[in-house]
Amino acid sequence: MDKSLIAFILACVIPPFCLFTTLPSLQLQWRIVQSSIFSFVAGVLAYKLIPTIAELTAAAGLAGTDLNKRGLKQTENKKIPESLGIVTSVVFLVCVILFQLFQWFSFPEAIQLSEYNAALTSICFMILLGFSDDVLNLRWRYKLILPMFATLPLLVAYAGGTSVVVPNITFPFNLRSVLGQVFDLGIFYRIYLLLLAIFCTNSINILAGINGLEVGQSAVIATSIIIHNIVELRLHYSSLSQVVDGVLNQTLLPASPHLLSLVLMIPFLFTTLALLMHNWYPSRVFVGDTFTYFAGMCFAVVAILCHFSKTLLLFFIPQILNFLYSVPQLFGLIECPRHRVPRFNPSTGKMEAIPTNLTILNLFLMIFGPMTEKRLCITLLIFQGFCCAVGFGLRYYVADYFF
Ligand code: UD1
Ligand code: MG
Repeated sequence: MDKSLIAFILACVIPPFCLFTTLPSLQLQWRIVQSSIFSFVAGVLAYKLIPTIAELTAAAGLAGTDLNKRGLKQTENKKIPESLGIVTSVVFLVCVILFQLFQWFSFPEAIQLSEYNAALTSICFMILLGFSDDVLNLRWRYKLILPMFATLPLLVAYAGGTSVVVPNITFPFNLRSVLGQVFDLGIFYRIYLLLLAIFCTNSINILAGINGLEVGQSAVIATSIIIHNIVELRLHYSSLSQVVDGVLNQTLLPASPHLLSLVLMIPFLFTTLALLMHNWYPSRVFVGDTFTYFAGMCFAVVAILCHFSKTLLLFFIPQILNFLYSVPQLFGLIECPRHRVPRFNPSTGKMEAIPTNLTILNLFLMIFGPMTEKRLCITLLIFQGFCCAVGFGLRYYVADYFF
């Protein structure tokens, strides 16, 4: 296996594991270990299944040319099987549902079973629509709205709060009276959740086009969410232990929404890493829109159910930058080709920027100069990790001043 891939996988697994060991309750740790064992098995299963299913998708005509190998004699006419996100997503769903079957986690008070099941329905619906997109090759404007339909089951079942707190910033005007107050947004809060799901899914899908990037960025975001969940669980349970004179009652652990997020994100991370092993440069499979939509929807769903949508957006800084930079092309102000990837130069083996293709891939190449596809992917993944670290800084050091 490629050394950089091993380093990347370790970087995704070791930090959450180190934090996990600091959790204050053995009972809590045991639940997370159970979920991790399940997820590891799911990861191995996905890894083994992908080559077999890849043969089937290729035979069914779901295969694409690797745009960044054009001009290389040995790979030029090779078709790479597409849509292997279908394996990851189905194995993920089976894993999560089996975990639910064994009732190895209890629902926090804030979340109802009906909401949780609606969340799974939304993920499932998104997988269906993503796969349909891969098969039917839908036009860009239809792709954009698919997540809207998939989010409906969750929005209908959503019973959580619809209020927001206005940040407490000191202003010299009358505004001061509304700052720091809680506002009920009602229906507008649901519209915000809908837009969040549309953004999460599409923003991952458009930060793509080089081997390993779609899956790699999803793994970094999932790792960040897991770290955030563990930090929040630590805070949650250490405040509890203070209430009962420093002794944590092991039998009466009130569940936290962050535990629920963990039992969704741990299998997501393991199955995604399994897919990455096949999708890393040089890709043996492509993930398809099935995966990008599925990943975005999983992030949106956990953030909506477990109420950390603002924090989630902090982990999406590269996607937000890429979206903002893409706006003129996405909204037709300037011409948008089918693929906005950089140019591959077969004589140097490096990728070169096409400045009219407004993605941060091209922007990075303009700033740092031409580089190989693998190096570009690693640079973007390091940038993703860096932005997530900045996101943590904002969440835990800056946000306290405002909320
Ligand atoms: C989005 C991007 C598009 C980008 C494409 C790459 C927008 C508006 N759309 O389109 O610019 O080119 O993703 O996924 O920003 N491919 C590779 N190498 C890879 C991954 C994909 O060559 O590592 C190519 C293959 O030919 C594959 C195709 O991209 O068949 C898949 O494209 P698809 O996911 O259908 O494109 P979109 O999501 O519509
Ligand atoms: Mg795509």
